[in-house]
Amino acid sequence: MTPQAHSVDTVNNPDMNGSGGTVSYDRVAQQGLDTTHGVILYLEDICVDFDGFKALNNLTLDIGVGELRCIIGPNGAGKTTMMDVITGKTRPTSGQVFFGQTLDLSAMTEAQIAHAGIGRKFQRPTVFEHHTIYENLELALKTDKAVWPTLFARLNGQQRDHIHSTLELLKLEKLFNQAAGLLSHGQKQWLEIGMLLMQDPKLLLLDEPVAGMTDAETERTAELFNSLRGKHSLVVVEHDMDFVESIALDGKVTVLCDGSVLAEGNMQAVQNDPRVIEVYLGR
Ligand SMILES: Nc1ncnc2c1ncn2[C@@H]1O[C@H](COP(=O)(O)OP(=O)(O)OP(=O)(O)O)[C@@H](O)[C@H]1O
Ligand SMILES: [Mg+2]
Repeated sequence: MTPQAHSVDTVNNPDMNGSGGTVSYDRVAQQGLDTTHGVILYLEDICVDFDGFKALNNLTLDIGVGELRCIIGPNGAGKTTMMDVITGKTRPTSGQVFFGQTLDLSAMTEAQIAHAGIGRKFQRPTVFEHHTIYENLELALKTDKAVWPTLFARLNGQQRDHIHSTLELLKLEKLFNQAAGLLSHGQKQWLEIGMLLMQDPKLLLLDEPVAGMTDAETERTAELFNSLRGKHSLVVVEHDMDFVESIALDGKVTVLCDGSVLAEGNMQAVQNDPRVIEVYLGR
């Protein structure tokens, strides 16, 4: 199950597409993404050393194609640092991080990683407040370098369909013409997720997506994530255990502690694991 090649060529080599002609880097990279083993992301023996402090300590885990993986763990466990390593913001001191079988993320820039199909949602929503919901989705579509030439052109039918289906998915279709600045915190978070979806990410990383949401918004977010299951691979870091339970279903939950995996299994198994109980009660 170990990835084999150390190459970023799939990102830069349009031949990967095999069809010739002009193609977007996203399409190239995503078509070139080798998931023959059913695994989209590998982290192997990752260490991140901050001046002698190991924020990640031999962290090893992998994420399946189409999987919705929940990651939990006490404050300071290394969850955000793990996302920083995947997205190229922080370089591992040692260890390997692969996207599919062949893309070595440690050799790619943050922009290349994003173009290869990894989207990340930070905790604070960063929507364009003075633009409408529709315009925000439109702008997100156009930040894709491949559509730069069409920045001042009208959207084509396929692009409009993509925006409409995303508005429906977010249940924001009736508000499409409203300024994003007028939305509730939860609605802004959904819009930002929608903006990430405009780029068709293969893997979405979400760090504490329901922090600051009302109970009703949290429930709606669970519904949204459940509808993304299988269409995208998702890694969700959250402290809200009711929320985690409502999206983990019978899938794998990974518990991080002190920079490595403490336990992994379905929600019930990890909740009943004495080591997990100890780290949660003992701090
Ligand atoms: N740039 C940095 N320099 C030094 N130490 C850091 C840096 N970034 C993170 N750390 C430390 O690494 C550890 C892991 O931090 P991280 O933010 O990954 O934890 P987390 O699991 O996301 O926690 P939380 O649940 O509170 O968000 C913490 O002890 C943190 O203080
Ligand atoms: Mg964090």
